[in-house]
Formats: sequence, C-alpha cells, structure tokens
Amino acid sequence: MTDIKPIIDPTKPKVYIETYGCQMNVNDSEVILSILQNAGYVLTEDMDQANLILANTCSIRDNAEQRIWGRIDQFKLQKKKRDNVLIGIVGCMAERLKDRLLDGHDVDIVAGPDSYRSLPGLIAAVRPDSPQINVMLSHEETYADISPVRMDKNGISAFISIMRGCNNVCSYCVVPYTRGAERSRDPQTILNEAQQLFENGYKEITLLGQNVDSYLWKDAQTPDKDVNFAQLLEMVAKIDPDLRVRFSTSHPKDISDEVIYTMAMYPNICKHIHLPVQSGSSVMLEKMRRKYDREWYLERVRKIRSVIPDCGITTDVIAGFCGETLQDHQDTLSLMEEVVFDSAFMFAYSERPGTLASRKYPDDIPYQEKTRRLNEIIALQGRMSLKSNEKEIGKEFRVLVEGPSKKNPDELCGRASNNKMCVFPSLGEKPGDYTHVKVESVTSATLICSNLG
Ligand code: 5AD
Ligand code: SF4
Repeated sequence: MTDIKPIIDPTKPKVYIETYGCQMNVNDSEVILSILQNAGYVLTEDMDQANLILANTCSIRDNAEQRIWGRIDQFKLQKKKRDNVLIGIVGCMAERLKDRLLDGHDVDIVAGPDSYRSLPGLIAAVRPDSPQINVMLSHEETYADISPVRMDKNGISAFISIMRGCNNVCSYCVVPYTRGAERSRDPQTILNEAQQLFENGYKEITLLGQNVDSYLWKDAQTPDKDVNFAQLLEMVAKIDPDLRVRFSTSHPKDISDEVIYTMAMYPNICKHIHLPVQSGSSVMLEKMRRKYDREWYLERVRKIRSVIPDCGITTDVIAGFCGETLQDHQDTLSLMEEVVFDSAFMFAYSERPGTLASRKYPDDIPYQEKTRRLNEIIALQGRMSLKSNEKEIGKEFRVLVEGPSKKNPDELCGRASNNKMCVFPSLGEKPGDYTHVKVESVTSATLICSNLG
C-alpha cells in the first residue's frame, strides 16, 4: 500500500493570508507564502485553523483601510477563542501606519512591503508584550530569487513582478510612501520564472509594476546591455508562442512607441493596455502631477490604435479631485466619450495623509457632489463599454479557456487577447486550452459567443 500523506501536516504551523488591493499585493502574498513555507509554515484557507493570521493590506483610499480595520476586529476574536494565534499586518497599510497599528490593537507583527524576508525572524521574536515591527524600505529589494508560491486555483495565469516601488509622486497617491523608490528586477530572473511557469502548465503571465514603462535594468558589468521594458517584453514573448504575455500598469507619459511596436510584432503579447488617465482636464492633470495633458493622452491613444487597431484600452478615473470644477468634470466625460474605453476603474478622490495634495490643496468637493460626479462617470462608462463591445459582434477571437462561466456553469469563459471576457458553449475544452470563438451578442461586461473550436 502506498503511504498517503495528509494534505495539511498537523505538526506544522498554519498560516492564513488575506490579500487586499492591487495585483502587486496578490503577487507579494505569493512571495510571503514562499518565505513562510521555507520556514516550515503550511497554508490554510480556514482562519479557525490558523496559527498565524496575515492581512496583506492596501492604503490607496480610506475605504480600503476602513475595511481592514473591520477585519482586524474579526482576527482579534480568534485570539480570544484560542491560544497560539498571532496576527500580522503587512503591506501598504503597515508601511503607512507603522507602530500606530500596534497601539491597543492586538497586532503582533507589522511588516512593510520590503521586509518580508524578515517575517520568520519577526514571528520567532514575538512575545506576549513584545510585538515585532519592520517597516524599512529598500532601494534594492526585488525578491528576485524567491519563487512565489501560487495561490490561484486555476494554474493558468500568474503574475510576475518586474519592478517595485514608484518614483512618480502623483500628488494624490500614497504608493511612493508605502512602496518606496522604484527599482527594476534582474531580467534573467524574470525569464527564468516565466519559463518555469510555462513548464508547469501556465499559459498566461502578467508582468507587473506600478509603471512598467520605466522598467530599466542596468548591468554594472556590461553597461551596453541595458534592458528596457520593450526589450524585456520581447524576451518574455519569445519563450513560447503559446505563452500569452500581459502587462500592467502603463503610464501615459512613459509608454513608448517601441513598446507599442513590440506588442504589434508578437501575436502572443496580448493587445491590451491599461492606461490610467485619471482626468480629462489638463488643469487637473497638472495639479495631479501626472506630467501629461489631455492632448498628450489622446495622441498616445491615437498612436496605439494606428499601430494596433484592435487594441483594448482600459483606464482609471478619479472623480472630485481638489478644486475640480464642473468644466473639469465635463472634460473627463468628454474624453471618455472620445476614447471609448473598453472598461474603467472609477473612484471618488480620497485624501491620503502625507501626500502632496493633502499638504497643498484642500479636499474641497463635498462628498455628495463627488459621488454624483462618480455616478455620472460610471453611467457613461457603462454606455461606452456596451458600445465598445457592440463593435465586436461578428468578429472572431482566440481565447484562453479559464473554466466554467460563473453565471452558467454549462458554458465556458475565457478572455480574448484584448482582455474582453467571452462566454461560449463547451466543445470539451479544459482550462488552459485555446479555442476560437465568434461574437454573437454582447452585454456591457461580456461577449456572448459561439465556439468554433
Ligand atoms: N483617491 C482616489 N483614487 C485613487 N487612486 C490612487 N490614489 C487615489 C486616491 N487618493 C486610483 C488611481 C490609480 C488607482 C490604482 O487608484 O486611479 O490609478
Ligand atoms: Fe497596491 Fe497601491 Fe494598494 Fe499598495 S496602496 S496595495 S500599491 S493599490
């Protein structure tokens, strides 16, 4: 008889991880799990079983932090119920609030985004009245040698961080303070990770950075061999034509023609650019310190579409930034109508302590008015998404099958290269297979397709 090992070894401490915020954070949680597994921890999806409860947190807007405070209250109940439970707050909120997280909150460990290697040491050093904290930011840390332990269920798409931090200092944004200065990761380690994922059956990787266009690897030994983002993209695309490559996030001031032409050259580089505009008003863009204006943004969109006519373009929009007039708001709406984004993430401005905007400009658009403008933006985007999807009717796409459709488990779903979600009948495909579909009808969120096989 073969010896069947239990799925979770009861002798090993168990860690439960909740992740908030962006894709970078999702990938960071995978790095954390890798570090903790090497220290003997096993992952549990059941908080009631965990010896270590970690929240990998986000500070981007106040409501993100409020949600996490609510969760910390829940975690504390676990400590009341059981012995041997530690609570750790890691990530952006840990970096922003530092030891303020320890004041009367029953938190045992606080670790910022650059201090995950120290987690096993911090955990070991915790005593009942001695919580542990490490919020040192680094100019070098990229976790380049760590193989993230994938926590996704499907085994098809994975994130690879290619850089960390951000040097842009947009006036509304807390990220430069929580994630520190920008640094790029050694391209060879990125290629190795992508190759490894492909060998393990993954079919799609997303290269992640706060501003991927400013990726630049400088090799001290061979200064003529600098690698920029377009070159990195090409190197990853060459791994295998069946490995799809995506990337996020692009910055309108930095996205280069070289990147656009590289995308056009390789069928397996997905034709989708997430290009946050934030506002359609040049006055607001100046105050936001975005370093481009409305015209520049529209020119970049024209360039993308002239080289890649079918490129998906999505965006982020902020409603009600400091001093935003009704005219500025109209400028955002008119830009959205002009571009017809495929989809957008839309937010009401949330003042973040310590940012340039919080020091320089009053947060003077009343909450109700911000919400009204946001709702107007959301309603318009709904119409634009529908319009953008309607022009796909009759077109054929190659999609990567993700699994059963959420709404109708008898059907399959998967994304086209332009990142649009397609739903189609199964011809027996498995997650990770490619198939061809034809768009028959649409909603604002989905392309409803026939399956051509
Ligand atoms: N308030 C509202 N939205 C914000 N974002 C970043 N900072 C803020 C803020 N203070 C949005 C931007 C960014 C996205 C990740 O979050 O649109 O692109
Ligand atoms: Fe990601 Fe920004 Fe939130 Fe940090 S603050 S988790 S970088 S979205």
